[in-house]
Amino acid sequence: MSKLRFGICGLGCMGQSHFARLHGHPRAEVVAVCDRDAARRAGDWHDTLGNLDLVQTQGGRAPLAGIRTYETPEALLADRNVDVVLITLPTPLHAPVAIAALKTGRHVLTEKPMAGQANDCTRMIQAARAAGRTLMVAQCIRFWPQYARIKQYVDEGRIGAVRFMTLHRLASPPTYSAGNWLRDAGQSGGALLDLHVHDVDFVQHVLGVPSAIYAHGLTGGNGGVDHIVATYCYQDGSYAVIEGGWTFTPPWPFEMGITVHGERGTLTWNSTRGQDVLFYHGGTEPERIACAGDALRLELDYFIECVLNGRPVERCTPASSRASVALAWLERRSVETGRTLHLSERLRAAWGV
Ligand SMILES: NC(=O)c1ccc[n+]([C@@H]2O[C@H](COP(=O)([O-])OP(=O)(O)OC[C@H]3O[C@@H](n4cnc5c(N)ncnc54)[C@H](O)[C@@H]3O)[C@@H](O)[C@H]2O)c1
Repeated sequence: MSKLRFGICGLGCMGQSHFARLHGHPRAEVVAVCDRDAARRAGDWHDTLGNLDLVQTQGGRAPLAGIRTYETPEALLADRNVDVVLITLPTPLHAPVAIAALKTGRHVLTEKPMAGQANDCTRMIQAARAAGRTLMVAQCIRFWPQYARIKQYVDEGRIGAVRFMTLHRLASPPTYSAGNWLRDAGQSGGALLDLHVHDVDFVQHVLGVPSAIYAHGLTGGNGGVDHIVATYCYQDGSYAVIEGGWTFTPPWPFEMGITVHGERGTLTWNSTRGQDVLFYHGGTEPERIACAGDALRLELDYFIECVLNGRPVERCTPASSRASVALAWLERRSVETGRTLHLSERLRAAWGV
């Protein structure tokens, strides 16, 4: 197979963002798209929020010529010329569409969070296993150049044993989603599952599944945890503190950041302070580690190479994405009960990847 043929389900913010990165890709092409919104299906993407030079340079018109368009995921799945289904639909649709796609023999790349509930994630993993097809969740922070470089430095032992990590992801309430589904906690899981899960996933990527979790949070009027501060504790004494939320008053600017402190140095990056990761390891100035690259493109490239070469997706396994959903739910339980939750060794082993 020379080019992997993608069908994109959902042409909102993320569908459009992935489309732009697949357009002209040397190893993949978009052959089909679906959305229930007729204007988006017709290529009218003038209201796009993504950073889409591709579309903006064409007066808000998406280059959909030659691409088959469908109204529903079911209709797209009936198109036999699709090899990969890319799911950029609201979260409640991730599991049903992924499972249906896997059952028809397609590979699946789905946006995060993997699903709203861990048991749906389990069903997705079982469907991929039964079909013998590739399933990956687009946990883009694992591919974000600064975060990936920090993980690489930690793995190479450059800061010695990790003592603690702090991460944050802070935003004002999202207003752009179709029908405002993001603000409906029953659909999105609130900021806890939609926003904060990025950092839950990255902590797990670096330190593994914690032995205890304690969290404080602010529950919004719609029942979702919209701001949270969680502490993850590990058996070697290390810990992570993660803050996430979209309660900040507009025009609060989006901000994300990470600091990892080890016995021999500190690595830090903040999205408001440029592209370089700063590495403090003595002397008078930090070492500046230059980082470049587009996380979504790097994520797509990785997935495409895994599928085309028949390799497992080790950098972002479905089991780890499932664990991130389960950990977010444990945080919610800690918020609701005010208690520290301890994870047994057996559970950690079962969730570990
Ligand atoms: N990786 C990231 O950083 C990131 C950022 C934003 C969103 N996301 C995730 O991406 C997913 C999509 O979010 P979004 O921001 O693109 O949402 P969105 O609201 O912008 O887009 C969703 C699209 O799906 C369409 N749709 C909804 N129900 C449908 C149905 N039944 N059939 C056909 N089309 C339907 C809508 O018309 C809309 O165009 C979510 O799971 C979200 O959590 C990830």
